[in-house]
Amino acid sequence: MDLNIKILKEEDIGKDCVEWFLDTEIVRFSDNQYRKFTINGQKEYVRNCLSNKDIDLYGIFDGNRHIGNIVICGFNSVHKKAEITYVVGDRKYWGKGVGSFAVLEITKKAINIYKLNKLFAGVVDANVGSRRVLEKNGFVLEGTRIKHLFYDGKFYNQLDYGLLLSI
Ligand SMILES: CC(C)(COP(=O)(O)OP(=O)(O)OC[C@H]1O[C@@H](n2cnc3c(N)ncnc32)[C@H](O)[C@@H]1OP(=O)(O)O)[C@@H](O)C(=O)NCCC(=O)NCCS
Repeated sequence: MDLNIKILKEEDIGKDCVEWFLDTEIVRFSDNQYRKFTINGQKEYVRNCLSNKDIDLYGIFDGNRHIGNIVICGFNSVHKKAEITYVVGDRKYWGKGVGSFAVLEITKKAINIYKLNKLFAGVVDANVGSRRVLEKNGFVLEGTRIKHLFYDGKFYNQLDYGLLLSI
């Protein structure tokens, strides 16, 4: 694999990345299960991210192949913190270290480019893969929000993870 992350552009959007979000397994633990996805809608989302200083949307690529996204958002210049979310949309790539790689890369950017003190992420407790991705990158569990999210017809706890970047 030739993994890299880079700011997503409109021309990167193809039908694959719309199909990711129509896959119930991929959106199982995310608000994306309540959204509608089209190519035009995704392109508009990319344009909005490019013009919004509060969010940077990176594509995860294997060479030129777009296989997922990782977002850093909610920049706070006083507290020097931001939130991350991510999806490995091409399921053939699950379990191959892609999610861990993307979080490592965004962590490096959080230190070197965004100059942040802290990253944080909220994860459904049942999302074992996502928890492992964070823990492998040094994120620690800071708290649990009880029955905080409603997915798949039931309420789930949200685990709040944080990573101090020691700037
Ligand atoms: C969660 C997700 C990002 C994991 O990405 P990934 O590329 O498969 O993760 P990695 O290959 O880097 O795996 C990291 C670790 O988690 C483990 N893991 C991954 N998926 C797992 C699963 N479903 N169950 C148990 N362990 C899992 C891996 O075995 C690996 O552990 P190890 O290194 O100790 O062996 C991916 O499954 C995904 O995009 N899911 C849908 C969207 C989502 O849930 N996003 C997160 C929202 S917070």
